[in-house]
Amino acid sequence: MSAKTLSTSAEWKALARHWRALHGTTLKGLFDADATRGTRFVADGAGLHLDYSKNLATDETLGLLQKLAKARGVFTRRDAMFRGDKINETEKRAVLHVALRAPRSERILVDGVDVVPEVHAVLDRMAAFSNKVRSGEWRGHSGKPIRNVISIGIGGSDLGPVMAYEALKHYSRRDMSFRFVSNVDPTDFVEATRDLDAEETLFIVCSKTFTTLETLTNAHAARDWCLQQLGGDERAVAKHFVAVSTNATEVEKFGIDTANMFGFWDWVGGRYSMDSAIGLSTMLAIGPDAFREMLGGFHAMDEHFRTAPAEKNLPLLMGLLSIWYNNFFAAQTVAVLPYAQYLKRFPAYLQQLTMESNGKHVTLDGTRVDYATGPIYWGEPGSNGQHSFYQLIHQGTRLIPCDFIGFEHALTPLGGQHDLLMANLIAQTEALAFGKMPEQVRAEGTPDWLVPHRVCAGNRPTNTILVERLTPYSLGTLVALYEHSVFVQGAIWNIDSFDQWGVELGKQLANKVIPQLRDAREPKLGHDSSTNALIRRYRAARKAN
Ligand code: F6P
Repeated sequence: MSAKTLSTSAEWKALARHWRALHGTTLKGLFDADATRGTRFVADGAGLHLDYSKNLATDETLGLLQKLAKARGVFTRRDAMFRGDKINETEKRAVLHVALRAPRSERILVDGVDVVPEVHAVLDRMAAFSNKVRSGEWRGHSGKPIRNVISIGIGGSDLGPVMAYEALKHYSRRDMSFRFVSNVDPTDFVEATRDLDAEETLFIVCSKTFTTLETLTNAHAARDWCLQQLGGDERAVAKHFVAVSTNATEVEKFGIDTANMFGFWDWVGGRYSMDSAIGLSTMLAIGPDAFREMLGGFHAMDEHFRTAPAEKNLPLLMGLLSIWYNNFFAAQTVAVLPYAQYLKRFPAYLQQLTMESNGKHVTLDGTRVDYATGPIYWGEPGSNGQHSFYQLIHQGTRLIPCDFIGFEHALTPLGGQHDLLMANLIAQTEALAFGKMPEQVRAEGTPDWLVPHRVCAGNRPTNTILVERLTPYSLGTLVALYEHSVFVQGAIWNIDSFDQWGVELGKQLANKVIPQLRDAREPKLGHDSSTNALIRRYRAARKAN
């Protein structure tokens, strides 16, 4: 299937015609015409409730989008992913994050080998290790129990663990501290360790490849920091460092005993790995049982995506609506607005998941696409965002579809504050959909000159996802919902959502620039005039220091 066949397909053209015909349709009009809309345009799956009624879409829209999904082979591709086919074509790999949460009884074959027993063997080792650390049985080099865990990693080897730790803090060991170091900016490491005692600190070095500049640099800094505090005895490394990687050779080279290594597999993409051994810090924080609950949530959403009918399939609906705005309304971004402070890192996590996956400009066969692919995902927790960027969503000139995420029960009730939080979420979706018309503004006694400034045109589309409570299980369902929504979009665009070649160029160039900043002798610079001048300026400042 080439790029051309999408934009010239009958299904695409039908959607374009339908979009033109909908011109002038308002959410108010849609709700006025159908009193059942708010209870009809909803779907439930794996404990999540999705209200998609406040979208600029009719039954016909949804029907046409479903036809597009069918014609683009979304279901065939989904089944191929679950089966372990090598659908990551540019890297010739299976895409099997769903195997990470498959129950022991399942069988999933990669190259004829059932991977489920391997997944559970690693989970069991992680659990045994976590129990030892959490109980104090695992001792540091000087005999003290571990009180601090620092996970070192970047991108997919960091964002998931950070997000999950923040999201599930309520369930975490409060007598231990958990920190995360990702940036090659030395500040990150220095600030994370400044008040810690190495005798009580465990480092988890997380890197799929174990060659990533940032992670290896920070891991070496951690090793030096540790050895300096522990009297330089190399044997301390075994007690204070464990690794999570697919690359045993590099782990050994670094000096970590592979007995202290937790593996995963090339069929787990970095941004799809928070439920693999990369989540070891999550398991240490919340315990093995709660970690397995989280996997149960992921699996429940996997099953929903695999088996629920198309018209009630949450990831499919969300993926299709995203296509609708991205490709027909030319919306460039999607705002994700969790009304939960615990989910403060969820938008950042989603940025890698969505944009590293679907930020692609060619189809699987290498043809340049002639349609927009991955939208920009961004967001902040509510209600904070309301006092910051919501103004632009309400009255700006851009269409920004929003996902509102809320919880029916608070984990940390404080008087009636949760009601206030949820009232704000619900009110925002209402305000965005129906706005405030000039006649309403005038009726409030607003002078004519001020009326245009106070008008909110409405018609701003939103999804609302309601969840009973934030738990390890519901977090799993929520993450898997977005993973599969990303999958649906990528399948329709016919791109490889599982590679990330675009990040390589910057890495290669940085490796070239590093010696040019450091060399004592003036290097011969062959870059453009801007890059050359920046290097020279930095060198001069470095010399003057
Ligand atoms: O730079 C992008 C990337 O390759 C991500 O895809 C990945 O999650 C991250 O770097 C970290 O890679 P690794 O786990 O191999 O250190």
